[in-house]
This record gives sequence, C-alpha cells and structure tokens, in this order.
Amino acid sequence: MQILKIGLLGLGNIGSGVYSLIKRKNKLIAQQSGVRLEIVRIADRSRSLGISVPKHLLTQDVNQVVRHPHIDTVVELFGGVQPTLKFVLTALRSGKDVVTANKALLAEEGDQIFRMAERFDRKIFFEASVGGGIPVIQGLREGLVTNHIQSIHSIINGTSNYILSEMTERGLDFKTALKAAQQKGYAEANPTLDIEGGDAAHKITILASLAFGKMAKFKDVYVEGISAIRHEDIAFANEFGYRIKLLAIVKKSGDGVEARVQPTLIPKHHILADVNGSYNAILIRGDETGDVLFYGKGAGQKPTASAVVSDLATLGKARSASSPMRFPRGHLTVKNISTILSRYYFRFQVIDRPGMLAKISDVLGKHHISISDVIQKERRTGRVVPLILLTHGVHESAVRRAVHAIDRMPVVRGKTQVLRIEE
Ligand code: HSE
Repeated sequence: MQILKIGLLGLGNIGSGVYSLIKRKNKLIAQQSGVRLEIVRIADRSRSLGISVPKHLLTQDVNQVVRHPHIDTVVELFGGVQPTLKFVLTALRSGKDVVTANKALLAEEGDQIFRMAERFDRKIFFEASVGGGIPVIQGLREGLVTNHIQSIHSIINGTSNYILSEMTERGLDFKTALKAAQQKGYAEANPTLDIEGGDAAHKITILASLAFGKMAKFKDVYVEGISAIRHEDIAFANEFGYRIKLLAIVKKSGDGVEARVQPTLIPKHHILADVNGSYNAILIRGDETGDVLFYGKGAGQKPTASAVVSDLATLGKARSASSPMRFPRGHLTVKNISTILSRYYFRFQVIDRPGMLAKISDVLGKHHISISDVIQKERRTGRVVPLILLTHGVHESAVRRAVHAIDRMPVVRGKTQVLRIEE
C-alpha cells in the first residue's frame, strides 16, 4: 500500500474540510485507490479552528511542514500569491510533491512553479483550483488528451453565478445576493476577486494553459466583472431571449487564442443558461469529442475538499506508476481584446426626443456596426430613457470607437452599458 505523509498548510474553510474528509473516508480512499493518507503536521497561522485537531499535529511555523524530513506531500491551502509562493517553492526544492487549490498562485506564478517542479522531478496536482468538486483538470489532462481543444466556455465563479441567478430569479439586489454568497462560504476573502472577474480570470488562465499546452499569462486575459450589471439589463436581455452570465472563454481564433472573462448574453436555450446558483459548468469543445460538459458544485467546503483529497489519491497512484508529469511549456499568445469579433448588447441612456435613434444609428453606421434589434420601452418626451440595441458581429475596436463618440453626444446621458453576446 502506498502511504502519503502529508503536511497541510492552512486549516481554514477548505483546510478543515480536507482534514475531516481524510479522517472520515480514509478507509474508502485506501480501498478505492490503494493509497493511505497520513497527516503528519499542519501549519495554521490563525489558530481560529472550527474543528478539533490533536495538538501535536499543529504548528505556526510553516518550515516545520515544508522542510519536515518525514513529509513527502505538501497540501497548500493558504491561498494568495505571497508569501505562499515562497512556501511552495521551498516544498518542491525540499523534495515534496504539492497539491494546491490556489488558482491565483498558479495563474500568476505557474511558470516558475512548474519549472521548479520539473527541475526537482516533483509532481503538482491542482484539481480544486478550478470548478470546486468538478474533475475538470483531470478531464483536460487525461480524458481529452487526444483532442486539439477548440474552445472552452465556462461559468467558473460560483459567487458571481449565485448573484446573477438570485438577481434573475428572485429579483434580489446585488448587495444582498453577495452577502448571501459570503455567508454560504463561496466568496473569496476579498470578494472583489469574485465580482470583478479576477477569480474567473485566474481559473481560465489555468484551463487555457492546460488546453493549449503553453502557459497563458494572467495579464493577457481581458477581464470584466458583474458589478455594473443592473436589473434592467437582466430584464431587457430576457425580452430578447437571453440570460446574462459571467463567462470565462478561451477559444482558438485564426492563428491566435482569445481569452476573456465578461458578463455575456447567452440564448436561454443554451446549455449554460440553466447553470444556476453556486454551480459551475465548463463546456469544452475538442476536435475528436465535440462538446463535453463538466457540471457541478464549483465552490464550498465539501466539494473543494473532495477535489483536494482526490488529488492526493491520484498522486499516490502516480508515484507507484512513476509516470512522468506533463507541464505546459513556453508561452501562449493571447489576442488583444480589440481584435475580437462578437455580437453586442448596448443600453444607451438617452433623452427621449424625435430623431435621437437616427443620430445614434448614424454613428454606429459610420463605424460599420450593423444593428439586429432595437427596443425603447418607455415614452417620456424630453426625459432620460433606456434604448437597447443588439448588433450583428462586429469588431471590438469599432465598438469602442463608436461608444466613445456616442457617450459624448448631448442626447446621451451616462455611460453606455456594453455587453457581449455568445450564441
Ligand atoms: N470564490 C470562488 C467562487 C470559490 O465563488 O467560485 C471557488 O474557487
């Protein structure tokens, strides 16, 4: 039987979930995988423990884990980039394999970490970094290995998805929905990462790197969050037959790759439109398989702990098989957002007066933007009303120039809402 001697970094929400899962299911894991998990030491800086752990396991000194002579596997659940990076690199240098749930760390410093792992012939598993309990990393690394990946369309931030679902289905306002997501343990310690798209961008950086076998740069991913979405956008989108979702997208486009996170209009009948609450879904198109959908709980203690512990079992099995580990190599070139082609939703705030639509469509026409649908609900002469326009496929650069010009017209009040549509 393969025995893993584990050092745990962090005993917060996910860390305590991992600890108790290993305690509860150790027998089952050993039966299913032939691997026994033994926790040797736990470093926790806060000591705000919600679970009872034997005192002799605990330390506040991280070095007693990452340099411990009897530990062969470090499970990193501190989160954040610094000083966690330093601990992970020390663990690798000290001959430990690493399991982590840390998407920010991998997206921003993956290159350095993977190089270090290769240099010291160590393994790194990170199933819990994307999609909580959904085995999408293993799916990409193993299950889809014969495919050239064409595209990934994903809902990978549970907090944003929960907020948008609550706003859509129950009419909740943004702040109340965010508070509920925080109470349920979905949100990051800094929820700006959730609602402004940073968390989803970290995750799509990891998926893009695995899908294309080259390291994507987190900074190349175009990011827009959901904080500017209003109830009226959800209602107007609904009238046109769309739902608004925070999508993280990576796709092949010509000889490059597009990678972006954005609130997106998707048709109500699209398979991702019904992914609600804290659920995540990752729709991957491979050239051999066609579309493959991964769906499940993308956040929360139990699903995430399940992914971490499954990595430990996989790691134990991989050790006996002595299979070499594949890491992304080189850099993935991501196209600049200004070059992408998309359909758009515009909500202009305009003064309701004759000829106003003609003026706006004139500017759009000058930038070769073709309109597919228009609605103006309210009739309030001389007052500000929303005017909604949907376009056919156009280039982002043309949209930016046109909206910049329109926002400066005297009949237009406030900043235009611009959302992209994916069919
Ligand atoms: N804050 C993340 C989310 C947790 O809401 O999806 C899981 O990574």
